[in-house]
Amino acid sequence: MTSQIEETVRFRPDVAGIAAPDASYYLLSWPHSMSMGRLSVEQQALLHRLGREAIPVKELRDFEAHLDLLRAGGWLHVTVTCDGRDLYTVEPEGPEVPRTDEMPPDLALSRFAIARRDGTEVVLESPRSWCRVRLHTSQALAWLGPSRLADDDVPALRRLRRDLWGAGLAVSQPDEEDAQLSTCQWQPHELWFHHRSRTRWPGTPHGKSDWAAGTFDAPAARRAPLGGEVVSFAPPDLGRARDNDPSLTAVLEDRRSVRRHDDANPLSVAQLGDFLYRCARDRGIHRVNGVDHVNRPFPSGGAMHELEIYTVVRKVSGLQPGLYHYDSQHHRLERITETTLQVRRLLRAGAMSAAASEPQVLLLITARFGRVMWQYRSMAYSLIMKHVGVLFQTMYLVATAMGLAPCALGGGDHAAFAEATGLDPLEEGTVGEFSLGSLPPETGR
Ligand SMILES: Cc1cc2nc3c(=O)[nH]c(=O)nc-3n(C[C@H](O)[C@H](O)[C@H](O)COP(=O)(O)O)c2cc1C
Repeated sequence: MTSQIEETVRFRPDVAGIAAPDASYYLLSWPHSMSMGRLSVEQQALLHRLGREAIPVKELRDFEAHLDLLRAGGWLHVTVTCDGRDLYTVEPEGPEVPRTDEMPPDLALSRFAIARRDGTEVVLESPRSWCRVRLHTSQALAWLGPSRLADDDVPALRRLRRDLWGAGLAVSQPDEEDAQLSTCQWQPHELWFHHRSRTRWPGTPHGKSDWAAGTFDAPAARRAPLGGEVVSFAPPDLGRARDNDPSLTAVLEDRRSVRRHDDANPLSVAQLGDFLYRCARDRGIHRVNGVDHVNRPFPSGGAMHELEIYTVVRKVSGLQPGLYHYDSQHHRLERITETTLQVRRLLRAGAMSAAASEPQVLLLITARFGRVMWQYRSMAYSLIMKHVGVLFQTMYLVATAMGLAPCALGGGDHAAFAEATGLDPLEEGTVGEFSLGSLPPETGR
């Protein structure tokens, strides 16, 4: 006996239907809308029903033209059933993107597709797809394996293959995604991150949503001190710096990455203090509706200023080597630890990144993630990366104005920092590294 494959449809949960006095009917899902034209009372009742419950497609034969419009616009969840049992649901995130190429005989799951738990079910998603597929049975999940996707004997599987192909969740074999640079160049996590941080998905909070308000307290601008010995700095004379610094054009034009330092005349503790003050001190904190907003010399989305600076000191005159935290509110260093094995690992990673010897000072930039993530959804991490870029450039310019040797670094030892400080990497972790030291004589201005 052959299995009975059928479909039921209902509106996406974020879709609202509105009838105008002249019987024109509109579908709304911010920021999209669609006019359905003038509809009879019966047709309007049917659309209202689609908002409340799933209706078998076979009951909608008189409504076929409208149904095609709703499918193409991505307004419907379409559930495929086998002998009355729900197998999977195609859940559009926006209008369908029709494939123009013909479905090949051999299919495999896209390498960008991710299956993850959502509630009690598993959803299959990809940044290259206009929809997600919700799998209601473990049978459907088992079909995703490469050998099963090639199987053509089971009617329900044939239908799933077609839907995965149409959704862009399946690709032709041999893997078309490896054959061209435009897809091959992307690692799955990078494409996911790029896509989800740039695109507003219906039903998914995006941007400054304050999603955690009322559930979690907003993390304070300042966290509890880390303890340890304190090294206080005197604030620099900014009036003198205004008068004596090279011009903006001179700083921009003279800025360059310098990876070697003059160990015979190392950076002084006063220079390190002035550098940190000019780059990253708190100029003020004010609280609005329970949320701390911070002002520093560099800008920050929402004035959240989640970035912290730690200094690994190898050679600074007047300062013990070791790992310190910069307290940007009180303009001082808190000593965390001497040069332990983990601190040595941090220095070595810095040297390897610069392909140079260990820097006099390795600046570790961390993010207290909750500062940004408490407010922003989906784009929070990309915002943090932008803040690191903003701080990098501020560090380059201040170092150049002060006649120091700056160099941004592309990587570091994330785990060594967590081990050295004992901080939970989900709450605070390194997101950038920067090397700083005294300028060797031959590179001086
Ligand atoms: C985000 C970023 C990451 C970088 N990573 C490294 C690095 O890991 N190692 C390194 O030696 N230089 C690194 N640099 C410095 C670049 O190599 C340097 O800016 C580039 O070669 C141009 O030279 P210039 O800075 O002197 O203009 C980085 C720069 C930036 C902005």
